[in-house]
Amino acid sequence: MTPDITPAAPADLPAILELLAASKLPPAGIERHVASTLVARADSGVVGTAALELYGTAALLRSVAVATRLRGLGLGAALTGAALDLARRRGVSTVYLLTETAGRFFPKFGFAEITRAQVDPVVLESPEFTTACPKSALVMVKQL
Ligand SMILES: CC(C)(COP(=O)(O)OP(=O)(O)OC[C@H]1O[C@@H](n2cnc3c(N)ncnc32)[C@H](O)[C@@H]1OP(=O)(O)O)[C@@H](O)C(=O)NCCC(=O)NCCS
Repeated sequence: MTPDITPAAPADLPAILELLAASKLPPAGIERHVASTLVARADSGVVGTAALELYGTAALLRSVAVATRLRGLGLGAALTGAALDLARRRGVSTVYLLTETAGRFFPKFGFAEITRAQVDPVVLESPEFTTACPKSALVMVKQL
């Protein structure tokens, strides 16, 4: 079946954490952003995630992950597109992200590399920037 992409519910948190661990992505702070997290659901449960941390008109796109067995089928692209739609609906104009592994995936959606010095100071204070992601991670931005 094609997984449905829907808003996450608090009860999805354990499955989201499991998927992040399997995808080697940092879990730090995700529990505070479940209300702006999307999940892809299959019969087997949560098979994909994409989360937004909302900071006024800026947002951090994080935790974009697809279960290993379902990669390469368009689900990551669908989750990223749905997260960007959600950001637009929430009045976000600038979306940032950090990645160590998908620097060639996100440009497909209009993200371009920037330096940390170019990031909105409010977003720079998020746990992803301060502790979870190494300084070597790429920083990218997309204007909506
Ligand atoms: C990155 C990830 C979410 C992509 O999910 P996916 O479902 O495999 O991606 P899709 O099938 O939607 O791929 C869409 C396109 O991106 C390409 N792509 C997928 N993963 C890529 C990667 N890591 N680097 C570069 N391109 C990638 C695909 O080839 C495809 O290209 P096409 O449109 O030209 O055919 C998935 O590989 C994953 O969970 N990785 C581990 C977690 C991670 O690194 N997340 C990103 C940081 S938040």
